[in-house]
Amino acid sequence: MTRRRRLRAGRCLGLAAALGVAAMLGAPGRGQEPDASGPAQTLWTPAEVELALELSPLPEPPPDPTNAWYEDPAAAALGQALFYDRRFSADGRTACATCHDPSQGWTDGRRLAKALAFNPRNTMSLWNVAYNRWFYWDGRKDTLWSQALAPFEDPREHGFDRVALLRAIAADEDLAARYAAVFGPLPDLSDGERFPDHARPVPGEETHAHARAWAAMAPADREEVDRHFARVGKAIAAFERQIVSRDAPFDRFVAALRGGDPAGFDALPESAQRGFALFVGEARCLVCHDGPNFTDGEFHSNLFPAGEEGGDLGRPRGVRRLLADPFNASSRHADDDGATGRVKLAFPPRRQAHPPGEFKTPGLRNVARTAPYMHEGQVATLADVVRFYSTLEGAAQPGPEGERILRPLHLSEEQQADLVAFLEALTDESLPPELLGPPAD
Ligand code: HEC
Ligand code: HEC
Repeated sequence: MTRRRRLRAGRCLGLAAALGVAAMLGAPGRGQEPDASGPAQTLWTPAEVELALELSPLPEPPPDPTNAWYEDPAAAALGQALFYDRRFSADGRTACATCHDPSQGWTDGRRLAKALAFNPRNTMSLWNVAYNRWFYWDGRKDTLWSQALAPFEDPREHGFDRVALLRAIAADEDLAARYAAVFGPLPDLSDGERFPDHARPVPGEETHAHARAWAAMAPADREEVDRHFARVGKAIAAFERQIVSRDAPFDRFVAALRGGDPAGFDALPESAQRGFALFVGEARCLVCHDGPNFTDGEFHSNLFPAGEEGGDLGRPRGVRRLLADPFNASSRHADDDGATGRVKLAFPPRRQAHPPGEFKTPGLRNVARTAPYMHEGQVATLADVVRFYSTLEGAAQPGPEGERILRPLHLSEEQQADLVAFLEALTDESLPPELLGPPAD
């Protein structure tokens, strides 16, 4: 018997015990006897099996009490139409889908984003975005719907403004009807005296023509525009919520362990199984990439050296911007009277101590389809990511307040390949085809 086979037999015995634990936890498959006489089903130890059962399946996305329409199918269809529409941009060519292209893992394949101008950050994928607590690499948004407002007015992205956006929706018969069916009619913006062609707040640039036009509007009119602008974001969020990935080979394998379809045992090659054991064990990836979406939803530095852009403060600046955001979860635009915001926003200010250089831990489902990696897109392949974690070559030095989590893993070539195989086994890009373009009806 080779060393590996011995190991395997020993681990196999442990499986029964672990499945017993799973049954106690009330996992599906309860009461099913593991087939101890059958072929070895997994290389994992009972503790590893237990972790796998915690990491799969990905549950339904959590509710969003700040968005009264988060589950409304008509709102989602409107949001889908807006997401793919290129007209709401200064050049008439930029839609959300320009950078978040469903055929490219809901990102753009570029190192750094570019529409009207370069953005010094890598485009984030929208897979499983509804599970996130914070949005953007620096967490400067705290709800999915308020995130969706920013790109329209970002001069590097859509370069548009909220008044023009509402007017353009009102001018399109189909969109206006969809909007009215969900939210009630759009306001009448035809009075050019009250509602200029283009108006928006431009923080830090009060002399900008859009900012001056916005400041000249009556407060009640600004309020009305903002209320509807927020609803546009709520519709887009209802659409994005459907971008969920939960049937990866890893999930099928874990489902088989729970007593589901035994064909799932063939889904995860041994290399990926070994990679999982590393991920949750020796390589300590789980410290930050924890939970069924493989992120703790918080901010860390993985010590990857800054790219050419450099100087990106990340989280500390994100916290400041979030607290100053008139659409944050404690604002009057949240549909739960700020209840969520009071909890969420109480925490980050206390952690102003976030040292510079912390970014949101990305979820890893479908990560094999969303290269290049990191907030500046500095890393081309998963093999390069894993090599970095293994050697920490060229790593940034953590500041005095920085975490001390990472250390060189010194993984062998085979172990590195195993970790990559595991990351690849988190791939499930299947989605109803009707989500991959504007709504059909
Ligand atoms: C020019 C390319 C571009 C366009 C157009 C664009 N985005 Fe993005 N998106 C990005 C980049 C870059 C980031 C990360 C930026 C950052 O962290 O500062 C991002 C981040 C996001 C995130 C955060 C994901 C997360 O996990 O935190 C969401 C959600 C999102 N975009 C949705 C949208 C929507 C909705 C639209 C249209 C209204 C849109 N984007 C338009 C490039 C773009
Ligand atoms: C200290 C927390 C931490 C640990 C431990 C950690 N990561 Fe990360 N990981 C992060 C953060 C934060 C980022 C984003 C960093 C950035 O953009 O600058 C990241 C980025 C990544 C990315 C790129 C994802 C993308 O969409 O760009 C991959 C892949 C990844 N990590 C895999 C792993 C693996 C595999 C391990 C274990 C060997 C691991 N991570 C350990 C925090 C961590």
